[in-house]
Amino acid sequence: MSQHTDTTYKPTSPNSKLDFASVWEYAPAPESASHAEIKEKYDLFIGGKFVKPAEGNYFKSMNPATGETITEFAEASKSDVNKAVKAARKAFEGEWSSISAKERGKYLYRIARMIQERAREFSVLESMDGGKPIRESRDVDVPLVAAHFFYYAGWADKLEYAFPGKKPKPLGVCGQIIPWNFPLLMLAWKIAPALACGNTVVLKPAETTSLTALKFAELVKDAGLPDGVVNIVTGAGETGAEIVNHKDIDKIAFTGSTGVGKLIQRSLAGTDKKFTLELGGKGAMIVFEDAPIDQAVEGIINAIFFNQGHVCCAGSRLLVQEGVAEKVIQKLKDRMESLIVGDPLDKNTDVGAINSQAQFETINKYLEIGLNEGADVYQSSCSIPDNGYFVRPTLLMNVSQSNRVVQEEIFGPVLTIQTFRTADEAIQKANNTPYGLAGGVWTDKGSKIFKVGSGLRSGVVWANTYNKFDPTSPFGGYKESGVGREGGMHGLGAYLKF
Ligand code: NAI
Ligand code: MG
Repeated sequence: MSQHTDTTYKPTSPNSKLDFASVWEYAPAPESASHAEIKEKYDLFIGGKFVKPAEGNYFKSMNPATGETITEFAEASKSDVNKAVKAARKAFEGEWSSISAKERGKYLYRIARMIQERAREFSVLESMDGGKPIRESRDVDVPLVAAHFFYYAGWADKLEYAFPGKKPKPLGVCGQIIPWNFPLLMLAWKIAPALACGNTVVLKPAETTSLTALKFAELVKDAGLPDGVVNIVTGAGETGAEIVNHKDIDKIAFTGSTGVGKLIQRSLAGTDKKFTLELGGKGAMIVFEDAPIDQAVEGIINAIFFNQGHVCCAGSRLLVQEGVAEKVIQKLKDRMESLIVGDPLDKNTDVGAINSQAQFETINKYLEIGLNEGADVYQSSCSIPDNGYFVRPTLLMNVSQSNRVVQEEIFGPVLTIQTFRTADEAIQKANNTPYGLAGGVWTDKGSKIFKVGSGLRSGVVWANTYNKFDPTSPFGGYKESGVGREGGMHGLGAYLKF
């Protein structure tokens, strides 16, 4: 990448304006991909075996940082989905139900340890197929994946303690549909609690990022999990709809867009399938005048620019108290200049590639909408690679509450900025979108944290930090951000009947 090739250090004179581009020039530090095995083609994983799709169709997956095709995935049709559900039912009624809860837990521990052993390969493949910086897949995604399996492994034989006085029982076959922003982590969020509770699963990864799910299928085979407990079918929305509408599925777990979530909820109306939906967000970050400003700026950068803003709970709106607005915005602009946008496999990269052409177009469409709505658009001056899909970190200022860019999910490295005077005004503005997934507050006063925390209608509120995850903590939304909770003990309840 051109911006990384100049390795000479260029000192700036003490009186010159800080020239971040030269101060922070790093030599390229690409993570090696030579140890990561990618097959030319991947089949469906059904009943413990890789099987060809009935209709023989495959589709391409590309590396969004280069635009090159890296592999092909099978397209699962109705009959393939049916086969996967049958395999899952057979396992549920057979071997999986006959083993003890303690043994079930052991499988999950084994999977967790094997993920740790193969962490490097999973991280590299996640970054290649999806575009996220290796620093994130290596330090956030994959460790959290292992942590989820460890956490739910521990619950497998203790379900009666989680729900005292009740006799929890598994639901049966669970259909799980996941998005492309945290491919392996969303798989772990879905599969770990489902298996811990004694269910079997048919999971469909997103069509642009199915690689690590199929690598996970290989791991499941190596772990000796009974055939049919985990089935992975690849394909796009039609395959997802086949899962949703299959008569022999007991629960649907979905993470993705609010639009598709609503479709799914409509399809499920009148059936006795259980469901959890984790949908979009428009997280507000509220920065008070008494906040530790540098810490807040770093938190904001992390909340919206890392992982290209491809985070459902991203902090995509900044609400800053008037007295410090100018200072915060200047510091944000300075920090944005030091962000490195480029090769996801480079360990120095902060902002990787946008996941797909479609998402790239969506983000650019919103930048245009913002301009037309009268926003002041500020972008960092960094260079971006010539190939692949990249968007510079962007601020949209002078926006108002009714603007589409303030109300709608952009899902890119784009932050809107508004100001407020009082805590009540901040809460009112933060709550004034159709979403309610996450929010953040920065202040020196505990009392303000409690006031804002209890005033925000959102599933998660972080204080003086943002985007911190832990398997013990439940996650989910208010309003159009979804139904139900995943993670923690709450996440167990979603996979059990009493
Ligand atoms: P999407 O909601 O279409 O895709 C998510 C998953 O649902 C994928 O596996 C997809 O194949 C599947 N799917 C699509 N249509 C389906 C249907 N009718 N029935 C069952 N499954 C179906 O999301 P998309 O189009 O990739 O992204 C569009 C927007 O959604 C983004 O711009 C972003 O705003 C939002 N989004 C939110 C996510 C979140 O974590 N809450 C994740 C991904 C996208
Ligand atoms: Mg891909």
